[in-house]
Amino acid sequence: MGRKNLYIETYGCQMNEYDSDRIRTAIDAAETDNPKDADVIIINTCAIRDKADQKAFSSLGKFKHIKANNPDVIVGIAGCVAQLYGDKLLKRMPHLDFVLGPRAIPKLPEIISRIEGEKIRALETSYDLEELFEIEPYHREGTVTAFVSVQQGCNKRCSYCIVPYVRGDEVNRPLSDILKETRSLVDKGVSEITFIGQTVNSWKQNGDKFGDLLRAAGDIENLERIRFTTSYPRDITKRMIEAMKEVPQICPHLHLPVQSGSNRVLSMMKRTYTREWYVETVKRLQDAIPDIALSTDIIVGFPGETESDFEETMTLLEETRFDSVFSFNFSPRPGTPAAELPEEQSVEKKAAGARLRRLQERQRDISYENNQSRVGLVEDVLVEGPSRNDSSFVSGRTAQNRITNFPGHSELTGKIVKVKITEGLHNSIRGELAV
Ligand code: SAH
Ligand code: F3S
Repeated sequence: MGRKNLYIETYGCQMNEYDSDRIRTAIDAAETDNPKDADVIIINTCAIRDKADQKAFSSLGKFKHIKANNPDVIVGIAGCVAQLYGDKLLKRMPHLDFVLGPRAIPKLPEIISRIEGEKIRALETSYDLEELFEIEPYHREGTVTAFVSVQQGCNKRCSYCIVPYVRGDEVNRPLSDILKETRSLVDKGVSEITFIGQTVNSWKQNGDKFGDLLRAAGDIENLERIRFTTSYPRDITKRMIEAMKEVPQICPHLHLPVQSGSNRVLSMMKRTYTREWYVETVKRLQDAIPDIALSTDIIVGFPGETESDFEETMTLLEETRFDSVFSFNFSPRPGTPAAELPEEQSVEKKAAGARLRRLQERQRDISYENNQSRVGLVEDVLVEGPSRNDSSFVSGRTAQNRITNFPGHSELTGKIVKVKITEGLHNSIRGELAV
């Protein structure tokens, strides 16, 4: 058989985007955006919140008819929902050919050929640590930025979070492999690498710590920018801060999920730090890297969160003035301790929704004010391509990770240029080339 046609949908975090690109390599297919033309259909799913996994189910439902019309098409579910429900998915959805957990991607080629040869249905949710990082992601020619996975799984046990159950314990990738993948991307023209891991800064291998990984990446020739996400607050070390301060390619931006401003809630979430400790850590970072931009994640309506707990999250917004905040209502996930808390402790849906809206409205203003404060400055922008809405504009990011649009030719793609900031908006800034 010649090259297959793949149709793939991806939900969730950067890790899933990365995994979908590994799936693309594994299948070595041409890609189609019409599932009717596909030989293989894959939904790469996210289980982090209830809404995300509902999306996966409704998406899979759409392929029932396609399979009925063309029994040869292979339909599979990958990612965290696959790991979470496993065999139940095969039982519930007769049109499904395989269920593939996030750690089993290297097994995909074998699974596909067995489905074709033996007409079986496959469930593969095992972990094979030997092969875990095999299969590098598919690379699109001309892309300027890329992810490199440095770690899989998570060793923390935040009481609300399903990630450790579906992605397993933390496994760190060897330094030499990380650097090899990074170098090969740079050779293909990539200017900016983002190292990804659930708690990326807890990375360690044979005595090397995360700060050493950052320094080693700083020595890679022609790599212009280094980013990493997501940092776990308690794993920030002096070595890491020093590397951020001293390696010029490391961008002054940190995504540092706080989750709540209330110590009572932080303790119920098992986050292992207090509000005061978090604020102090932010100060240490700001002292070392004065221009550091901060973003965070916040969960609103955790079971037992009172109005006064929520007020503490609101005051933390004022105290820290994050550049951006990703905020969510608590969603109980099967098998996590927080999902077992007594019903009477849960925050009423309407109240939780109102709190979330209030938080988002306030943060929208803070983000806007922070963006406005850049007006008049000249910043380095790595151009990623034409702007989405206006082809006479190009779009890129400042080192602090602000999306920046300015009039320019798409030939600037891949270049770092000086841009004078002229306007601050809610989610981005605008400027003009400073020559
Ligand atoms: N370390 C991970 C965190 C993954 S989850 C990372 O790479 O980002 C991303 C965010 O989703 C978390 O920081 C948290 O704010 C939110 N989240 C996780 N579980 C949740 C739940 N059960 N309900 C609501 N939000 C949740
Ligand atoms: Fe989840 Fe906490 Fe790990 S949010 S991914 S258990 S650090």
